[in-house]
This record gives sequence, C-alpha cells and structure tokens, in this order.
Amino acid sequence: MREIAIVTGASRGLGAAIAERLLAPHRLLVCVARSGNDALVARARSSGAQIDYLRCDLADAQAVDALAVSLGARLREHRDAQRFVLVNNAGVVEPIGPIEKLHTDPLAVSLQVNLASLMRLTAAFLDATDDASGERRILSISSGAARHPIAGWAAYCATKAGVDMFTRCIVDEQSRRANPARACALAPGVLDTQMQQTIRSADFPSIDRFRQLKAQGGLVAPEEAAARIVAYLDRDDFGAHPLDDLRDHAARR
Ligand SMILES: NC(=O)c1ccc[n+]([C@@H]2O[C@H](COP(=O)([O-])OP(=O)(O)OC[C@H]3O[C@@H](n4cnc5c(N)ncnc54)[C@H](OP(=O)(O)O)[C@@H]3O)[C@@H](O)[C@H]2O)c1
Repeated sequence: MREIAIVTGASRGLGAAIAERLLAPHRLLVCVARSGNDALVARARSSGAQIDYLRCDLADAQAVDALAVSLGARLREHRDAQRFVLVNNAGVVEPIGPIEKLHTDPLAVSLQVNLASLMRLTAAFLDATDDASGERRILSISSGAARHPIAGWAAYCATKAGVDMFTRCIVDEQSRRANPARACALAPGVLDTQMQQTIRSADFPSIDRFRQLKAQGGLVAPEEAAARIVAYLDRDDFGAHPLDDLRDHAARR
C-alpha cells in the first residue's frame, strides 16, 4: 500500500465526505466513528479501495487508548508506505449554553472527543511512524470558534483553541526531527451538517446568524468542503501555515 490515511468521525458530515474522497486503490483508509457508514464501505468495495472501519466512542478514554494501540499496529504494518495521513475530524459542539451552566459530564465529553482523543491518536500516529521514511501529514479540523469567542460556546471554543495550540506544539517539536511530520489545524467554514442542526436548535445569543445562513443558502455542502480539504492535504506546502482557514485560503488563490 503506497499510502495509509486515518479519518475520525467518518460516519457522516464532513468526515464521511473526506473519507469518500480519500477512497483509492493505492491507499488503505482507516475510518473511526461510533456509527457505521455502509454507503462508504460499499463504495470502497465496488471501487477496489481498501477500507478498515473501526467503531469507537472517542468520549471513552479507555476505548481511545485501545484504538491508539490498534492504529499504531496498522501503521507499523505499513511502515514502507510513502505517505501517512491522519485527519482528526470527529467533533461535538455541545454543551451549548452560558458558562454558569457548564457541568462536568458534558464538559468531559467535549474535552475528550474534541481534544484529548485527538491528542492521544496523534501521539500514536507520530510514535508508530517515527522511524518511517514516508512523509507524514496531520490535518486537524479546527473552527473559526477556536479563534473568535462565541457566547454560549465556551466548551467548543476552548477545545478547538486547544486543537490549534496542540498543532503548533506538534510543528515545534517536529521541527527538531530528521523527518518532521507536517501539521495543520484548518477551519473549514460553516457547513451544512448535523452539527449545524444541533446549533440551530440550541439557545445562545448569536443563533440568528446561523439560522439566517441556513435560510439564505450560506452553508457549504460537506462534499464541497471535503474536495477542497483533500486538495489542501495534497499541497506541496501543506503545513506551511500551522493554523489556517479554508475561507482565507480560497481568497488567496
Ligand atoms: N459543521 C460546521 O459548520 C463546522 C464548522 C467548523 C468546524 N467543524 C468541525 O468539523 C468537524 C466535523 O463536523 P460535522 O459538521 O461534520 O459534524 P457532524 O455531522 O455532527 O459529524 C461529527 C462526526 O464526529 C463523530 N463523533 C462525534 N462524537 C463522537 C464520539 N463520541 N466518538 C466517535 N466519533 C464521534 C460522529 O460520528 P458518530 O456520531 O457516529 O460517532 C460524526 O462522524 C468537527 O470537528 C467540527 O467541529 C464543523
């Protein structure tokens, strides 16, 4: 296999669209989510692409540890690959509400899914490919909310800001290595996915902006974002901007 790519949150939305774009005969695609994605697996079979679909609750730290070990083993099996890719996409926007109402259980899910599992899986990815000669690319899906506070979204803003800083730390550490992995935390724009449905049915001060975006056709289809993200992943200068925003990037072209 020339390439191995891991995509978390591949059951629907942006992750499913990215995974679909990454199906190719030369690439082993490893997908992670709690729910299955029969359409994706069927598409892989009919197109001759190799896929492993792993069911895991990324909110469960022990399950994430076991997943990290199993992903590490898969990566080592393919240590001769020319390229290793990790797309950290799984995420949750909840809990939404004022900071006074934050409670431990939903906060722990947000921190674990959006940040701790991403850090653990990235650690396993880097460790298992440390002595590989192929190139290594880590793309974490961030958000505009990592860089601009949104009232009522403190957990999401803080965890996504954590993803941004973690990415900068990866780049800093890797810059000292012989074969440095490249990393980017990329904000994808506002997408027409289940996450936006959750947002529109919540209660927070700027909710009208999100309802209007939907009503006025201002949301980006996940397939369109995925096409641009996969092209971004392939760029020669991938990682040159550790924090990036697909919207700014499009404007630069
Ligand atoms: N939608 C937007 O406007 C927008 C904007 C900026 C950034 N983003 C980011 O884009 C990424 C994808 O979001 P989306 O809009 O595609 O959301 P989505 O439609 O809600 O999909 C979220 C994905 O994450 C997975 N996931 C959630 N909780 C999980 C858990 N406990 N264990 C394993 N997987 C879990 C889901 O799979 P299961 O439920 O099957 O587990 C699903 O595949 C997220 O990181 C999000 O923060 C989205």
